[in-house]
Amino acid sequence: MSDPVTTDSLELQDQLHLSDAVSSVQPTEKGPASDLVLEVKDLSVDYGWGENAVRAVNAVSLDVHRSQILGIAGESGSGKSTLVYGLTRLLRAPGVIAGGDVKLNLGKDTEGNEISIDILKASESELRKVRWSQVSIVLQSALSALNPVLRISKEFEEILKSHRSDMKKHERRARAVELLGMVGLDEDRLDRFPHELSGGQRQRIMIALALALDPQLVIMDEPTTALDVVTQREIINELADLRARFGFAMIFITHDLSLLVELADEICVMYAGVIVERAPANALYSAPRHPYTLGLLNSAPPLHGERVELEGIPGSPPDLADMPTGCSFHARCPYKMERCVTQVPPLLAADSTGRVVACWLHSGDVGVTVPEELGRTVSITPAPKPRATAPTNSKEAS
Ligand SMILES: Nc1ncnc2c1ncn2[C@@H]1O[C@H](COP(=O)(O)OP(=O)(O)OP(=O)(O)O)[C@@H](O)[C@H]1O
Ligand code: SF4
Ligand SMILES: [Mg+2]
Repeated sequence: MSDPVTTDSLELQDQLHLSDAVSSVQPTEKGPASDLVLEVKDLSVDYGWGENAVRAVNAVSLDVHRSQILGIAGESGSGKSTLVYGLTRLLRAPGVIAGGDVKLNLGKDTEGNEISIDILKASESELRKVRWSQVSIVLQSALSALNPVLRISKEFEEILKSHRSDMKKHERRARAVELLGMVGLDEDRLDRFPHELSGGQRQRIMIALALALDPQLVIMDEPTTALDVVTQREIINELADLRARFGFAMIFITHDLSLLVELADEICVMYAGVIVERAPANALYSAPRHPYTLGLLNSAPPLHGERVELEGIPGSPPDLADMPTGCSFHARCPYKMERCVTQVPPLLAADSTGRVVACWLHSGDVGVTVPEELGRTVSITPAPKPRATAPTNSKEAS
């Protein structure tokens, strides 16, 4: 694998003419390379303008460490896709960024300066340079994202040609074969059209395309939701293995919290456009603190042990155009207190695991007793991770 940190940052610096007076690509101070590949601060996204605007993402902050898998979970409509469309500037009208900062750290240049790009201020041409090569995204609608009239080989050809102009035709073909092998597909799939492939194979091709340029960060928006459980599980195992081999960071979005517990290092739970709890996967699974996280965990079958009746969460998420006062979860929360109806709980540090949670139960107020199920001790046994099995070409994946 090439070194995306040094090679690509230099290339990017070159391509973007850093000497130009105005650029969103900035060398910053010398020192060790940032451990963070992405820094998002107070990102807000609206749909619509003026009086008709609804806030779908409200002042969300998150960091992604190098090689980390950050999971984002939440019910349908909680703002997961809007968050990643916003931070990659892929939003379509009527979506608008209402505020915030998004910084992508590209690594060091030869003089030891950290190179970062301010995504929200970058020009379209600057963004084109970093998309795919530094940040790639597999969108929620990926199954229909492949061009139906192009052979698969052409999709790889286009990406490699536009970002790796020094590659010769046979090298592009060889790279495409290598990428297919990484996701468990044979070379002959390259000459097929999308309709000649199964849903799982098409999704694997989207993942291979996302990895084509060795990006530092891969964003996957529900990449397995439309697939059967067995194929879903195989792809999750393969993603875990690919991350371990190549070291890219990943944001993985799903409404299936139990799936995320197996894959992610850290998990953000979103509700009505905000992060209500963020914690290491094991801490979140073994000792949830937010009532909504507990509700999501109780809505999913347990990873191990006896079958239990699933509880679900009563009610439905609020209408963004008519948000409740106070905690946006209060109408559905069995632990609701008086202040929950009028005061918005801030996101506060909750324990020594690095967890943050937005719930008045955990604010340390005198007289508030934390219910046992929301105050459990974090288990020292890590949440089960998928078996890392490298896909091989000898057994073609479904
Ligand atoms: N184009 C749009 N115009 C207006 N509102 C939108 C638009 N797209 C999304 N929304 C609203 O923004 C909110 C967040 O939607 P988003 O698609 O980000 O949720 P999600 O968490 O990704 O849901 P899902 O799990 O169903 O994909 C929802 O209330 C949705 O109705
Ligand atoms: S702040 Fe109140 S309503 Fe909101 S989740 Fe916590 S206890 Fe429930
Ligand atoms: Mg979505």
